[in-house]
Amino acid sequence: MDKVYLNGRFLPAEQACVPITDRGLLFADSVYEVIPAYGGLPFRLEQHLARLRRSLAAIRMEDPLDDAHWRAIIAELCADADGEDLSIYIQITRGAYRARAHRIPEPVEPTVIAFASPITARDPRIAEQGITAITLADTRWARCDIKATTLLPNVLAQAEALESGADDAIFVRDGQAMEGTASNLFIVLDGLLITPPNSECLLPGITRDLVLELARDAGIAHAEAAIAESELRRAEEIWLTSSTREIAPVVQLDGQAVGDGRPGPCWRHMDGLFQAAKERIRLAARNRPAEETQDD
Ligand code: PDD
Repeated sequence: MDKVYLNGRFLPAEQACVPITDRGLLFADSVYEVIPAYGGLPFRLEQHLARLRRSLAAIRMEDPLDDAHWRAIIAELCADADGEDLSIYIQITRGAYRARAHRIPEPVEPTVIAFASPITARDPRIAEQGITAITLADTRWARCDIKATTLLPNVLAQAEALESGADDAIFVRDGQAMEGTASNLFIVLDGLLITPPNSECLLPGITRDLVLELARDAGIAHAEAAIAESELRRAEEIWLTSSTREIAPVVQLDGQAVGDGRPGPCWRHMDGLFQAAKERIRLAARNRPAEETQDD
């Protein structure tokens, strides 16, 4: 990361500083987005910006910028991509004020941050060997649908997974599997692809929506339905999806093999569809007229 957008200006990363009284720092009073860009074109930008506005509304904030402004910032961050895949990080905090006080200040002068980081290509071993996960009690708050930076439970769950020798954790709340520490959950059970329905207990993932769309278009039987912990444990396949990790096949859960302990056939099919969708974006990026800044 060498260039950072901060409150209206692009700055070298080392010069981009926020005051220590910023409410994002003091109260995690902020929301964020992570948008993938392939070949220099942001993917599903409209959906990410819509989710950002939804998160802002949920924490009683207005979007400080209009669509055109966001698109211009993202295009600028993508401009140096040189064909590389990027993730664009956006964070809006409720701003910095003289005194630390819980009360929401009037007027609000938000802090707006954006920067790009490379998305490292998927380790080819993942397609062969998959990843491993553990289940953990969902200790998060009751509004996991807001993409807020209150991520300490997610960070600690990820640490617990790594400590126990697994790659990730799946949160279980009231006997139901919800999502990963930074990803949505899919299972294949009795041949049916299932993901939990959107609710206040999980993030409405953009990759999740894409997978559902791809399933529908390819005629793959699927459902949005609650996943009981017992169903998670007898699933033939488990996947975790996100903008940065795409669709990761989980081959071991709490030390037990999922299916035959290898990425399953349904995952292979869906991953092929997903990679083809990505390839279409890269192609659009190569062929786009100069003024075009996104592809949905
Ligand atoms: N996280 N659920 C949680 C808790 C997440 O943090 C994320 C993504 C997702 C998947 O959402 P999407 O498909 O829109 O990326 C689900 C991002 C990548 C992050 O925090 O870095």
